[in-house]
Amino acid sequence: KEIVYFDSIGSTNDYAKEIAKDVKEGTIIIAEEQVKGRGRMGKYWHSIKGDGIWVSIILKPDIYPYEASFITQIAGASIVKGLKKLGVDSLIKWPNDIIINNKKVSGILTELGAEIDRINYVVVGIGMNVKTIDFPENVKSMATSIRKEGYNLERIDILKEILEEFERLYSNYIENKDKTECIEICKQNSAIIGKYVYVLKGDEKRKVKCIDITENGNLVIINDNNVKEELISGEVSI
Ligand code: BTN
Repeated sequence: KEIVYFDSIGSTNDYAKEIAKDVKEGTIIIAEEQVKGRGRMGKYWHSIKGDGIWVSIILKPDIYPYEASFITQIAGASIVKGLKKLGVDSLIKWPNDIIINNKKVSGILTELGAEIDRINYVVVGIGMNVKTIDFPENVKSMATSIRKEGYNLERIDILKEILEEFERLYSNYIENKDKTECIEICKQNSAIIGKYVYVLKGDEKRKVKCIDITENGNLVIINDNNVKEELISGEVSI
């Protein structure tokens, strides 16, 4: 597998998208620092030099675009399982946040290069705050890092565990069409199943009860009219 390493870059996801069509599946972009790190919904992602893991994985799965959200679940399961191997307990706040003690330690940004019915590439971006002590004012109360939670771990050791898990769960999905282990990890380590949460969409905020995650990685909720619904994507606040 190819690994492309940068001391400093705009965003590993942006770079990954630029080179995606010319590189092998499994190519990984890592940077010590991102000066234009991106989160979901066009938000800024704080990526200071040496503070965290800023990595993008380029994939070329032979799946339909509507199936790609499952890859975010694979990433989430890999992060939780990788951290657990190093003695760190974390939970997944569906669909793409990893939290410790109710604060966000890691986020996933999955982006597609796709046509109507086929995928050209998928870029899975993972950001994890490992050594960070100071966060920007606007995220301070919601963010944490591995070090802030009391663990003295090196970025390389965490990255290695996450990538090993990712490779295993991803090939199980692609080669064997097996999603069960991934979903089992997502369910068992969910921060929201069994709880009431708010689902946010634009200015709309609905209070719903989360009851399950389907075999495709969708969230099953009971909505405000007491009707069961399946969400494919979305933003949830606890
Ligand atoms: C989120 O929680 O909103 C997703 C955050 C994703 C951050 C990672 S860091 C590596 C990759 N490059 C980016 O610009 N973003 C992702």
